[in-house]
Amino acid sequence: MACWHRPSLLYSLLILLQGLSSSLAALVNRTVDDTGSGNAVSYFPNDNSIWKRSNCDNCWLFPDVNRTYGGTYLAATYGPGQRTITLQLRFEGTAIYVFFILANRGSPGTILDTMCDISLDNNSPTRYLHVPNPSAADQFLYDQLVYENSNLENSAHTLNITSHGSDRSYINFDYFIVR
Ligand SMILES: *[C@@H]1O[C@H](CO)[C@@H](O)[C@H](O)[C@H]1NC(C)=O
Ligand SMILES: *[C@@H]1O[C@H](CO)[C@@H](O)[C@H](O)[C@H]1NC(C)=O
Ligand SMILES: *[C@@H]1O[C@H](CO)[C@@H](O)[C@H](O)[C@H]1NC(C)=O
Repeated sequence: MACWHRPSLLYSLLILLQGLSSSLAALVNRTVDDTGSGNAVSYFPNDNSIWKRSNCDNCWLFPDVNRTYGGTYLAATYGPGQRTITLQLRFEGTAIYVFFILANRGSPGTILDTMCDISLDNNSPTRYLHVPNPSAADQFLYDQLVYENSNLENSAHTLNITSHGSDRSYINFDYFIVR
């Protein structure tokens, strides 16, 4: 009698191990830089006079690239009356964490606030707001978590980060973590 149980026991054990290894794989964090890979990072308008990198010559803010992930960032400034700007992140997994660089000080007239609507898969947006603190010790804040969602269905997702309307916004995207 006992020998009839063995194959099914072994089978259940294999199923268990398989389940365990796939759930372990799903627990691993992966960092995606602002330079993206494939279509992980896109921006609208697709215009390099709006979305800029650290080497731009007519920028007002210059974060220290040595403190950014991979030595790069992707930044745009939005003011009322301009075309809506959108940063779009595509990923597959159950969690996303988005990290920006935020500004506290700049020369007079520089837009330092970060104001944006963050929307996952066309759901209603979450507002993110950073108000600059001119008396802060640091001009820039690095590795700042601006959005997290760790309760997603394991599938393909799209996250849109948008500044529009009456926003005044400095968007500086450094990287996101996906799991
Ligand atoms: C994954 O990254 C997030 C955001 O940094 C962190 O909160 C979490 O603890 C990390 N999880 C693992 C398993 O490393
Ligand atoms: C960044 O690192 C490089 C190489 O170590 C150095 O030459 C440069 O001065 C650093 N930049 C800043 C802003 O600290
Ligand atoms: C994200 O923004 C782009 C560009 O504006 C738009 O075409 C797309 O429909 C938006 N997608 C979602 C899921 O909000």
